Amino acid sequence: MRIAVLPGDGIGPEITAPTLELLARLGDFEVTEHPFGGASIDAHGTALTDETLAACRDSDAVLLAAVGGPRWDTTDPSRPRPEQGLLGLRKALGLYANLRPVRALDALLEASPLRREVVEGTDMLIVRELTGGIYFGEKTRTAEAASDLCTYSVPEIERIARTAFGAARSKVTSVDKANVLETSRLWREVVGRVHAEEFPHIELEHALVDSTAMKLITAPRHFDTILTENMFGDILSDEASVVTGSLGLLPSASIGNPEPAAAGRRAPGLFEPVHGSAPDIAGQGIANPLAMFLSAALMLRHGLGWESEAAAVESAVDAALRDGLRTRDLGGTASTAEATQAVLAHLDKEQT
Ligand code: IPM
Ligand code: MG
Repeated sequence: MRIAVLPGDGIGPEITAPTLELLARLGDFEVTEHPFGGASIDAHGTALTDETLAACRDSDAVLLAAVGGPRWDTTDPSRPRPEQGLLGLRKALGLYANLRPVRALDALLEASPLRREVVEGTDMLIVRELTGGIYFGEKTRTAEAASDLCTYSVPEIERIARTAFGAARSKVTSVDKANVLETSRLWREVVGRVHAEEFPHIELEHALVDSTAMKLITAPRHFDTILTENMFGDILSDEASVVTGSLGLLPSASIGNPEPAAAGRRAPGLFEPVHGSAPDIAGQGIANPLAMFLSAALMLRHGLGWESEAAAVESAVDAALRDGLRTRDLGGTASTAEATQAVLAHLDKEQT
């Protein structure tokens, strides 16, 4: 199993090292690390080099920590930005489906700013379209004006709808802004058709993004699977993290075509925490590594098909939290190293 690891920027390297330690407990992986994002801009002048992209293509899975930071923030369109690396990689690998599970853990019900009665029992999956929409449309910029084009094609909507219906247990909430946007009206039609023709046993509801934003934190249990376009999914998934108590707990999996690619092999998936590079706390050894551990678990499950190892990581994280592990983002004082030890101890217990 070959894993291309992209530590990236900010807290990225600090949460990558313990994750590699955790993976080493589970199997014999051939791990290679590559510069990405701001680190790559500093070294090579671009956020994603041909070498890093080739190494990712050549791997069985890509594990990424986070990119970005104030050091590379710019509004000048001609200067490189770390996020271009991430968008370029998603696009180049054809990773159109981004899966973001959001679960309220019993151990953390008090860590959420929302009331226990509201969050208890929440267990949803956000399926975000990842290679289309306003993120990837044509961009223009003059001294006086700027524009970002939002486009979706029927096949792009069909394939992400299939991902969501295939992953749903009982219900899909398809989120759009069909009262205003043409892309959303097409989205609604196509999702409705895929549902009727291929997944009639799953319940489908259409919802507008503004009211969904409200419902996500007033009635999060309402949701099973949320299916939505790129930018709405970006925004709603950060919002949904409030339910879990911290953005520091949310993993994500980005996957591409489940069919073998033309080259004869399936494109590797990309696994990364939902959170960013947290430059404000970088270098202090206090970052929460759990979202990264849980991303590694998603990699084991979706990228490599190692279900029992994935479940072992997830239950070790749950157990550590149940035992009282709290990093700063969860209102505690545990360092990255302490959090790592707590999870590894449970993992070792499970493995024996
Ligand atoms: C995410 C991030 C990225 C996105 C940024 C870093 C480009 O916010 O993965 O949610 O907007 O997709
Ligand atoms: Mg985001």
